[in-house]
Amino acid sequence: MSEWWRDAVFYEIYVRSFADSDGDGVGDLAGIRAHLPYLRELGVDAIWLTPFYPSPGADHGYDVSDYSDVDPLFGTLDDFDALVHDAHALDLRVIADIVPNHSSNRHPWFENALADPSHPDRARYVFRPGRGDGPPNNWPSNWGGPAWTKDEASGEWYLHLFAPEQPDLDWHTKQVRDDFDEILRFWLDRGIDGFRIDVAAALYKDATLADEIEPFPASKFSTDWRKAVDQPEVHDVYRSWRRLVGEYDNDPVLVGEVVFSDPTRMTPYLRNDELHMAFNFTLLFQPWDADGIRDAIDTSRAALGEVDAPPTWVLENHDVTRLPTRYGGGVEGLRRARAAALLLLALPGPVYLYQGQELGLEEVDLPDEVRQDPIFHRMKGERIGRDGCRVPLPWENGPPGFGFTTGAPWLPIPDAWDAKTVERQRADERSTLSLYRAALALHDELRGDLAWHESPPGTLVFDRGDIVCAVNVDGAPLALDRTVLLASEPLDDLLPPGAAAWLR
Ligand code: NOJ
Repeated sequence: MSEWWRDAVFYEIYVRSFADSDGDGVGDLAGIRAHLPYLRELGVDAIWLTPFYPSPGADHGYDVSDYSDVDPLFGTLDDFDALVHDAHALDLRVIADIVPNHSSNRHPWFENALADPSHPDRARYVFRPGRGDGPPNNWPSNWGGPAWTKDEASGEWYLHLFAPEQPDLDWHTKQVRDDFDEILRFWLDRGIDGFRIDVAAALYKDATLADEIEPFPASKFSTDWRKAVDQPEVHDVYRSWRRLVGEYDNDPVLVGEVVFSDPTRMTPYLRNDELHMAFNFTLLFQPWDADGIRDAIDTSRAALGEVDAPPTWVLENHDVTRLPTRYGGGVEGLRRARAAALLLLALPGPVYLYQGQELGLEEVDLPDEVRQDPIFHRMKGERIGRDGCRVPLPWENGPPGFGFTTGAPWLPIPDAWDAKTVERQRADERSTLSLYRAALALHDELRGDLAWHESPPGTLVFDRGDIVCAVNVDGAPLALDRTVLLASEPLDDLLPPGAAAWLR
């Protein structure tokens, strides 16, 4: 058995926005396949594909209407096979996103369930009688309004933790477990190297449907406060999935989107017979502050002390504001994001990059009329949504398509990204792309555990084997007494604030 994933760098591909091969303005599998050499050259180990299954697109693929096919928007099963084949030939592993918490309301299961309350598919979902005229309990949707929608025909309500177009599956129903075993096998048989599990802590809801305590906290993650989720039964599912993937000899992995502010709550999911790893967002929600960053690293590592799973490290994904923008934007934000890249890639354990992070892209402030995220529309602009981090990648110079598409990109690419294209950054050894490439080329040389050095306030310094990572967050210029292998900024003898270096 190979534990290839323990120090692997995963690259998240938001399929709609990576590369479009057929000019319809939406990225697709053939577009990804054509750009695999770019990913090889970048130096990542694996790609994670966001959902490419048939979907009405209410949540851009996180509303699946057929779990065992490819949406025609993105290609065909043959395109999928060809993509996996070519990726493997380049020594890149491929993991797929699996969405077990909810299906689309247009999945035949749900259509059957709505059409006939006595249909067996009704038991695949959570339909319950209301309380008086209202829903069965006070549970809110994560995206505003109640988590229940009334099925007018039967008078019952169905549960959806997200949009009404995403009805939650009822994991207490054995058929649902059997379905997903079959779905996992379908993709494993086609050579997939693992799964990213969407909303992994929420599959089972409290069967008593007890009310949540009001007022609902304004926490970043509803999993922090919802008593209804994080139910003990879910662990049995992951134990059986771990056994299932263990039957395949390509060592497939399971990575859970298990999101709690307190990382110790992730630990039960990472017991040795459950998930291989889970996203750890402690760094992602940490401002540019040395003590806070060090604390995020230490608490993440300590939380997993009792299990064998490594903490994962993430700074960006398709749900959050781009890093340079979070760090203040402009020149300063990018400078910090570049320093953070050297911190991120020096940490022991799996790293997850999000497409465009390697280009230092900023969040795009899109006009309301082009926004597509259901969060924006459901929450009436109260939450701006996630379109700004999902703008298609600028490959080559020249608007409007930027080499992403020969047509009109599904979200407009800003003209200013002319300075940020892959083509330009490839030719510039001081670009963010070149920094990522250089760091990834050295990544395998960072071995062993992390050992902190004492360092002045505002700085972070640690060893990984014989390489030292020094990050000056906002301290006084830091003297460097070793050979600089790589630096996020041009250096004299001192490491200025907002810069990082790897030394030997
Ligand atoms: C988490 C995914 O990352 C997000 O994009 C999606 O909207 C929700 N889960 C619901 O599936």
